Amino acid sequence: MTRILALLAAAGVLAFGATTAARAADAKTNWNKHCAACHGKNGAGKAEMKTLDYTKAGVQARLTDEEILKAIKNGVPHSKMKKGYANQLSEQEIKDQLALIRSFKK
Ligand code: HEC
Repeated sequence: MTRILALLAAAGVLAFGATTAARAADAKTNWNKHCAACHGKNGAGKAEMKTLDYTKAGVQARLTDEEILKAIKNGVPHSKMKKGYANQLSEQEIKDQLALIRSFKK
């Protein structure tokens, strides 16, 4: 009986691990598709686009979660990212982009 319970628990952990991995891959897929051209594959920014380097702790500290979410949803006026992604990405996908941006910090 305990053996079966342990097996079930292990299966649960594996299933959970698989879901989180899939979610992270989705965020990265969206980033590569929609954002990397201007923000760099690893979020370090591109000089010609004047995008910030998200790998820098100082840059990360300056940006609040709210600012990041708002920029992704609505875009940034007077920049090359005038249009937001509210109608291309779901609320959850936008939150996943926020988490991904935070993960670029070195
Ligand atoms: C056409 C180029 C371009 C694309 C595509 C683009 N961005 Fe941006 N993004 C910019 C520029 C330029 C800024 C403004 C940089 C500045 O002035 O600080 C910006 C600003 C932001 C900001 C506000 C914080 C900051 O760095 O100033 C966030 C967050 C952001 N982008 C995330 C994203 C995400 C996530 C995607 C994809 C879903 C994306 N961007 C796609 C060019 C782009």
